[in-house]
Order: sequence, then C-alpha cells, then structure tokens
Amino acid sequence: VVSKLWGGRFTKQTDRLVEEYTASITFDKELAEEDIEGSLAHAAMLGKQGIISAEDAEAIREGLLKVRSKIRKGEIEFSIADEDIHMNIEKHLIEEIGPVGGKLHTGRSRNDQVATDMHLYLRRRVVEIVDQLHKLQSALIEQAKANTDTIVPGYTHLQRAQPILFAHHLMAYVSMFGRDADRLMDSYKRINVLPLGAGALAGTTFPIDRHFVAEQLGFDRVYENSLDAVSDRDFIVEFLAHASLIMMHLSRLSEELILWSSTEFRFVELDDAFCTGSSIMPQKKNPDVPELVRGKTGRVYGHLVGLLTVLKSLPLAYNKDMQEDKEGMFDTVRTLQGALQLFERMIATMTVNKDRMREAVNQDFSNATDIADFLVGKGMPFRQAHEVIGKTVLYCIRNGKFLLDLTLDEFKQFSQLFDESIYDVLKPETVVNARDVYGGTAKPQVLAAIERAERELERT
Ligand code: ARG
Repeated sequence: VVSKLWGGRFTKQTDRLVEEYTASITFDKELAEEDIEGSLAHAAMLGKQGIISAEDAEAIREGLLKVRSKIRKGEIEFSIADEDIHMNIEKHLIEEIGPVGGKLHTGRSRNDQVATDMHLYLRRRVVEIVDQLHKLQSALIEQAKANTDTIVPGYTHLQRAQPILFAHHLMAYVSMFGRDADRLMDSYKRINVLPLGAGALAGTTFPIDRHFVAEQLGFDRVYENSLDAVSDRDFIVEFLAHASLIMMHLSRLSEELILWSSTEFRFVELDDAFCTGSSIMPQKKNPDVPELVRGKTGRVYGHLVGLLTVLKSLPLAYNKDMQEDKEGMFDTVRTLQGALQLFERMIATMTVNKDRMREAVNQDFSNATDIADFLVGKGMPFRQAHEVIGKTVLYCIRNGKFLLDLTLDEFKQFSQLFDESIYDVLKPETVVNARDVYGGTAKPQVLAAIERAERELERT
C-alpha cells in the first residue's frame, strides 16, 4: 500500500526527489493557524447540516484544538511525505482521534481549503500592516510638529530649488503612506471573501452551507463562482502591488535619509541604535537600515512580477503552479512588516540638525524665484524678470556672493525697480511663508495640514 492520504490509486511509492520537489510544507506551515481555523468552521458546518453526526463534529473539533495546541508548543514535527500543511494537519488529526478524523475532508478539497487559508492569512496581515502604516505616519507627524520652523532647501533634480519647511517635506511622506493604507483597506473587501465550498472546482454534492462558514470565519461574502473561487489569486497580486508601492515609498525616504546623513548634507543624524560601524574604518557610522530597505524593495517588486508571471495564461481551475504563490507572499509580508517596524522607531529617534539646514538655506539661490516674482509685482513681465534674475545670480556666482549679500546699488545695476524691501522678500522665512496656498509650505498651511492628518489618523 502507498502510505499517502491519496494513496488508493497508486501502485508505487512516490520518488523521494519528487516528494521533496512538490512538497510545500517547508513554507506553508506558516498557514497552520489559518488551516485549523478554516477546518473548525468547516467541521461545525458539516455537523450543523447533518452531513456528519454531531458527535463526530465534536470529536473533530476537539481533535483540531489538540493538534493546534501541539503545534503552538512546537510538539509536532511536520513531514515532507505529507506534502503540505493541510495534509500534515489532517494526518495528525487522524492520529489524535482515529478514523473519524477522516470525515473532516467531506465536501472539501485542498483547492478551496488552501485558498481559504490564504484569504484568512492575508486578511490578518493587511490589518496589521495598515496599523503599522498609521504608526509610521504618527512618527512622521511628531517630527513634523517639532520642525514647523525648520527651513531646509527643497530640491528638484537634486538641485536647490526653493526653501521649504522640513515639516512640509515630512508631511509629504505622511500623505504617501496614507494612500498606501487607503489602498490596503480598499483591497480588504476583495480579500474578505470565502472560497470554501467551491470543492475542487465545481462545488460539492453535499448539502453544505457556505454562508454559515463565511459567518463563522467573519467573511463578508462568499465567492460567486466555484471555478473562480479556487483559481483566483488576484487578491495576492493586488497585495504584492500595494506592498511594492509601500516599499517604493520607503525606498525614497531611505534614499533621502542616507543622503541627509552624509557628511555633505548632515541634515539628520540617525540614532546610534539604528546604525552600524565598519570593521576597518573606525570613524564610520553607516545607515544600514535605510540602505537595506532600499535594497529589499527589489525583492518585493520581484515577487509581484513573479506571481503575475506564474498566473499568466494559467488555465482554470487549480494548477500546481499556484503553490508558487506562497513564498513570495510570506517574504513580502516579512520584509514589509520588518521595514515598517524599524522605520517607525528610526524616524521617532532621529535627530534633526536644524542649524545645519539653516546654514544650507543661507548659502544658496533658492530665493531667486521670489525676486523674480518681486519684479513681476513691480510690473515687469515674468519672462523678462527671469532673465534679469538669471543675470543677477550669474553675477553673484562670479563674485562669490549670495543674493542677500548684494548692496542695493548692485541690485539696481540689474533693474531700477529694486528697492530696500527686497531684503525682506529674500529672507528664507518670507520666501517660505509667501507660499500660502492650500497644500503649500507656508507655516499656517503646514500647521493646518498637520492638523488634518492628525484628525484623519484619529478617524481610522
Ligand atoms: N500545497 C498546495 C498549494 O499550496 C495545496 C493545494 C493542492 N491541491 C492539489 N490538488 N494538489 O497550492
């Protein structure tokens, strides 16, 4: 006899290498809790519908609880010969309570079972990740609140562009992570759908009650179509896409933190607890965490493209290819949750070097737009003002000066429209506060944005 749960029609033992190659237990053991949760609901439904006796349902329930507690205590050793988490658990259940355990799989297939496990797993993780995003947003908001007077150069093309409040820069990330949380919450309604009851692909001959199972497991709906129920991995692709966007946002923040921590910038200093040293260069303090997050973004993108490619052209319904949906998803969850957890604390503990930011702002031409606007205010067409200020900046560069160093006579060489008030116009505070439009960097606008973000966070 072939010692498999499905051994009946086989005449030979499975080749050892085939067993190893096709088994998923090494990684899908991560679904143990979900698998048991789904089985508990399924068994309860079988009993309620009279498909199995109430006593059998109860025996199965108790058996599953025993298996679960053994797994939690690490007392169960999973076996490759039993292929995956579903069959490992079923085998242990039968060992625990005898042949009656074999009734659990009535009216069910591993195809709708594994899909259910994945929905349960991702549902829980998505809620956790949204919560982590909110915590990261809170940490960024706290830093923003401490920096509503901190002026820093704003960049385009990584060239000094216009001065902004550092708080404004941080709040941009609060918006980005807010969209990420929003996207995940939207995907929840497609995750929280029950596949169980689809059977292998066509439904089942037993008088099951899918809606009861859905209710037991807290699913909002059941899949409409049994083929779709077992074939659908859209919800995982969608999760990987959302995760990719989050990692992309984290990688942009990482890149900025790495730049800002460099000697050339010295805008921020990451806490010692979040950096590492060099084995040879004693002076080094390396921003390893943001560097690794930047790097790990690649593997998450890879998992997205990987799963899309697995699913491409795959005929309905279940195909073994689909077992490849798991490792990428688990790795993405791990990578993302690890990054978010570290980022929250790293942002909260980072030191902002306000003086150094100020020094940078004082030594650039990021107020040039504002004198152009000044001349426009005096009636000069913008295009001409742009040309005049371009020449003024060139004069400064050639003479080793910044705009605020010029005397009024020097200004007047470029236009007679200049007067004393130009010195106030050029001050970084004036420049920042001049951008007093909704969503702009003027202090009142940034304070209002912080307040809106805080209210939004409280609401969720
Ligand atoms: N380990 C499988 C997976 O993860 C479970 C479903 C297997 N179903 C089957 N008929 N082989 O996809």
